Amino acid sequence: MIRLANVTRRFGDIVAVNNVSLFVKPGEIVGFLGPNGAGKTTTMRMITGFLLPDSGEIEVGGVDVLNYPEVAKRKVGYLPEDNPLYEDMTPYEYLQYGAVMRYVSQHEFKKRLKDVADKTGIGDVLTRPIGELSKGYRQRVGLAHALIHDPEVLILDEPTSGLDPSQIVAMRELIKELSKEKTVVLSTHIMQEAQHISDKIVIINKGKIVAEGSPEELEKMAKGEHMVHVVTKNRGFEKVLSSSGIDILEIREKDGETEFLVASEDKKDLREYIFNLAKKNNVTLLEMWKERVSLEEIFLKLTQEEEP
Ligand SMILES: Nc1ncnc2c1ncn2[C@@H]1O[C@H](COP(=O)(O)OP(=O)(O)OP(=O)(O)O)[C@@H](O)[C@H]1O
Ligand SMILES: [Mg+2]
Repeated sequence: MIRLANVTRRFGDIVAVNNVSLFVKPGEIVGFLGPNGAGKTTTMRMITGFLLPDSGEIEVGGVDVLNYPEVAKRKVGYLPEDNPLYEDMTPYEYLQYGAVMRYVSQHEFKKRLKDVADKTGIGDVLTRPIGELSKGYRQRVGLAHALIHDPEVLILDEPTSGLDPSQIVAMRELIKELSKEKTVVLSTHIMQEAQHISDKIVIINKGKIVAEGSPEELEKMAKGEHMVHVVTKNRGFEKVLSSSGIDILEIREKDGETEFLVASEDKKDLREYIFNLAKKNNVTLLEMWKERVSLEEIFLKLTQEEEP
């Protein structure tokens, strides 16, 4: 598990992460979604214990990261944004070095190496210089490095960036597979990626969380499931609507027609309900359609709007 409570981090005048609170359940994959400069990397670096917050609390696997950074670091595997690798080393050497840095014994390392190499599919390239490997393999090596000490939590900063489409698919599948045993937080600025891979999406903008929920929940919100446009010939339908427990979000009049945008959470099919309501009250319905907004639009709206 990961817990952040009111975490804030500034760089000079910039508030990179602004009062962020977040809980990630064990075994969950959380997709951290936001545009450039949103604060994804800063948040992830604080979770890994490599960067200290100015205020707030961070806990990883039940360990307080600020008070016990060394213990917490052993619970976290981290694939940094640009995945810095030593080109002259072989994956074997690089993983061995990673194991030493995390106090993994040689004996333990031998056991872990096989498991990690199998999982990430790098068994055949263990003794080739990293500099000769493709980008896809380099990412796998980075992931293996993050896994070598068998951490409880994986923090993956843009793990698919720079990969070609087939490598992206393979990397996503690998992450899904790993998440069966680990709690995973990954960042991306691609909506579809977050949607495909995550149990929960957290949208961050200008250092603040602006929305969070399962892909289904966000999608529901995006599709405006309970929002319907209604165009009537007569005026006065608003009275009928509001006395029937429907919220009127907008009213527009044009050329003798009235357009309403209405919403209701408790009516199953709002269109059918409104149709019958209009019929009963002799209101002439001219048009009716569900509000359609894509998840992409919601994301853009949430991340492009100026703060009030
Ligand atoms: N070491 C630093 N020194 C100064 N400013 C920084 C530093 N690290 C991050 N920032 C600033 O903090 C803000 C958040 O940056 P961060 O790297 O966390 O964003 P991000 O969401 O990871 O963006 P990207 O999608 O581009 O990776 C930005 O305004 C950035 O310029
Ligand atoms: Mg970043």
